[in-house]
Parts: sequence; structure tokens; C-alpha cells
Amino acid sequence: MSLWTSAAIAAATGGTASGDFTTTGVTFDSREVGPGDLFVAMTGAATDGHRFLDQAFARGAAGALVSQPSVHPHVLVPDTMAALENLARAARARTAAKIIGVTGSVGKTGTKEALYAALERSARARARAHRSVKSYNNHTGVPLSLARMPAETRFGVFEMGMNHAGELAHLTTLVRPHVAIITTIAPAHTEFFRDEAAIADAKGEIFRGLEPGGVAIVPYDSPHRDRLIAAAMPYAARIVTFGLDKAADVRAIETMRTESGGTFVTAVVGTRELSFTISQPGQHWVSNSLAVLAAVDAVGGDLALAGLALAELGGLAGRGARFTVAVGDGQALVIDESYNANPSSMRATLAVLAAEPAARKIVVLGEMRELGAGSDAYHAGLAEPVLAAGVEAGILVGERARPLLNALEGKGDFVHVADAAAARASLSTMLAPGDAVLIKGSNGVGLAALVAGLRSGEH
Ligand SMILES: Nc1ncnc2c1ncn2[C@@H]1O[C@H](COP(=O)(O)OP(=O)(O)O)[C@@H](O)[C@H]1O
Ligand SMILES: [Mg+2]
Repeated sequence: MSLWTSAAIAAATGGTASGDFTTTGVTFDSREVGPGDLFVAMTGAATDGHRFLDQAFARGAAGALVSQPSVHPHVLVPDTMAALENLARAARARTAAKIIGVTGSVGKTGTKEALYAALERSARARARAHRSVKSYNNHTGVPLSLARMPAETRFGVFEMGMNHAGELAHLTTLVRPHVAIITTIAPAHTEFFRDEAAIADAKGEIFRGLEPGGVAIVPYDSPHRDRLIAAAMPYAARIVTFGLDKAADVRAIETMRTESGGTFVTAVVGTRELSFTISQPGQHWVSNSLAVLAAVDAVGGDLALAGLALAELGGLAGRGARFTVAVGDGQALVIDESYNANPSSMRATLAVLAAEPAARKIVVLGEMRELGAGSDAYHAGLAEPVLAAGVEAGILVGERARPLLNALEGKGDFVHVADAAAARASLSTMLAPGDAVLIKGSNGVGLAALVAGLRSGEH
């Protein structure tokens, strides 16, 4: 399906087309280029995309967006980053889709994926749903995701992230959401913020881009609720809260753990009551699901289909995916949370581990990064949920995690190692049949490699 013609790209960017071409996709990573793609040659500090033009066309690119003339079919602009943003604006302007922006300290990608699955079911057969891929949520990922949105999209779901004040204020002018969700406010990236209230303010910037008549979706149970509501007030026609409290507009009135580890929820959405099962375990998924229902309702999607989608969600790699590995004459359960970690998500997933029926629970916990001055206390503070989860043994990875080892001293079989490679060696001696092992840390710690090793059976 055609996404952008060279003429449309030239019109959107004010550039000059050389050659007549039609593209079906957009990418700025030459390794990701597929047949029919528009390759955007970005000029960064480290690399210059123009060096990869030959490679991109060898991989099947149909055209390129460049700031230097090229022998390949292209549209020439002064600045490719600015041009990508203009392409994003044009994509947004030409669609009649209902647009949803998702931000928050944790739960963005999970909520975005669940919302996409829910809306994809509503949109099926009529038109289509579109979403950002992976965690493409920053100053390049958001415009890229928008530029990839087909004109005939019915629902568009965009993850929006930030680690500094002002970033969302800009991104939201590109996304122009009809519905803006804040999943949670929690200490993540705290080194760039004075305190959590400052994080709430920066997340609240998402509401500034709401379309007229737009809906703000706010976590009721957050201590920053009133701050978020105040931030939404000038821009939102309607503010919808979600949570467990009975005053929340979208609320869970009953939750029950299912045999397979998910949660059976009875929820109220406005005046309607509905029951559904969430395949993914944990209270945090109950919370994310309520945000999903609030958004589906706000864009006129089908709540019953949303419930079905929530029942079928698979665990995302690095964010709760599960698999078993052979150990000795038995098996161990691996919970892969290697993608990221902060105090809030650590607690959420330790609570999931707590409910796991395993002979023994163990953890591989990598350090949580970007926590600034509070780092030691945040790490030490995890001892309580680790022990409450019934964890008997564990490997703590990275220098910043050392305060956690100290706090766990004498309370089980815990060791500290320098890096992911050492953790791998240590885990292979620790792992026993019947274990459930939770693997979680900041992405930079590299625990994904350890998980990959376990998956391929070499541990
Ligand atoms: N609502 C929530 N509250 C607390 N922790 C959560 C929540 N949603 C997800 N998590 C935890 O955070 C991790 C990262 O989730 P993800 O959806 O990738 O967040 P983000 O995209 O905001 O970084 C998950 O693996 C889970 O451990
Ligand atoms: Mg994400």
C-alpha cells in the first residue's frame, strides 16, 4: 500500500524531488530498510545517514530524504530531522484517525501494545489501527511513527517519552492526540528532575497538544492526581480517571488471580460494568488495563473486544515474557523483565513473583540507573519487596546495586557481581529444578543477553 509519493514528500517538507517514486514505509536505520521504504538520512553527532545511502538502496529503498544531493531517487531538503517532523505533521493532518498519546513513568509500552491490540480488533475489517513500534517514543521515534501512519488509519496509538521538561510539550504538537493517557508517575529518570512533582508536571505537558474536545486520562490512585488534573484542565474537554478507588471513573471493583497467573477483573466504565481476564500477571497490568478501557471508550471503540484482546496479550520480550528452561532433571521458569527497571516497576514485578507457585524463587536484579542522589536509598529499599516475595536467593548486578546487597545481608543466599557476564556464570551454578527466576534491571546492564543465553539453552 502506498504511503508517500515523492511529490507528497516534497509538498510536506518543502523539498525538491529528484525522480518519481512511491514508498510503502519509512525508516532512518539503514539496517532496517526493506523493499519500498523511504530512507531518511539523518545527520547525527556520531554518524551521517548519507553514508548509508548505497546500502539502503541495495536493501530495496524506493527513495531517500536527504540534505545532500544523491544519485539515488530522493527529495532534497535543508535539514532531514526538520523534514521528518514535517512529514509527521502531514501524516497527522491527512488522516481522520482517532489519535491516542500514551505517556507515564512506567507502563507506556505495555499500555500502548494492549491498546493497539484492543483497537485493532475494533478496527478490523473496516479500516486499521496503527501504533509506534517498540519503544520509539522520543524526538526521532515519535515523528517516525507518525510518518509511518497510513492515511486511512482509524486508530493511531503513539508512545511518548521524555527525560527532560519541555520534550512532551513539543512532541504533543506533532501527535495532536484526541486522547492523552498518563499511566503512572513514579521515580524514573529522577536525576533530571527536582522531585516527583516535577516529573508529574513534565508528563502533564502531553495535555497541551490535545485536540479540541479531547480527553485526558489520569491515574486516580496517584499522589499526583490533582496536579495532573490541573495540568489537563485548560486543554481537555473531559478528564477521565482510572484506578482502584471507588471514586475513579474507570475502576476495578473486583480482581481475582486466575489459575494461569493472570487476573480476572470486574470493572466499571462510566455506567457500564464488564468482566474480563488479563493474561498478563500483576496489579500493574490491572492498572494499565483500566487506562486501556478508558481510552477505548473515549475513542468509541468496542469495550467487549478490548476485553478479549486483554485476555490474549502475550508477554513482551523484556517486559514480562515467560519461558521455561531445562535444568538438571527438571525445569525452571524464567520471567524476562530485562528491558528496564526503576523502583516502581521493580516492586510491581516482585509482587508478580510473590504470587508464583514455585519451589524456590530467585532473582537476578541489575542496577536501576538514572536515579540521581536517591539511588542508594532506592536500591536498599528493594530489600523489603524482595523478601516479601519470598525470594530466597539472588544475584545483584552492577555497582549501584550494592546497597541492596547490604540491605539483604544475612537474609538469604544473595551475591553481588560486577556485570551481566558474571551474573550469567553465577546463575548457572544457582539455578535448580523448580525455580522461578525473575531477571530485571536497567537495559544498559545487559541482562537481555543473559536471557537470550537462557533461551538458547546455554546456561
Ligand atoms: N502501571 C505500572 N506500574 C508499575 N510498573 C509497571 C506498570 N506497567 C508496567 N510496569 C513495569 O514496568 C516495566 C516496563 O514497562 P513498559 O510498559 O515497557 O514501560 P515504559 O514503556 O514506560 O518504559 C514492565 O516490565 C513492568 O515491570
Ligand atoms: Mg517504553
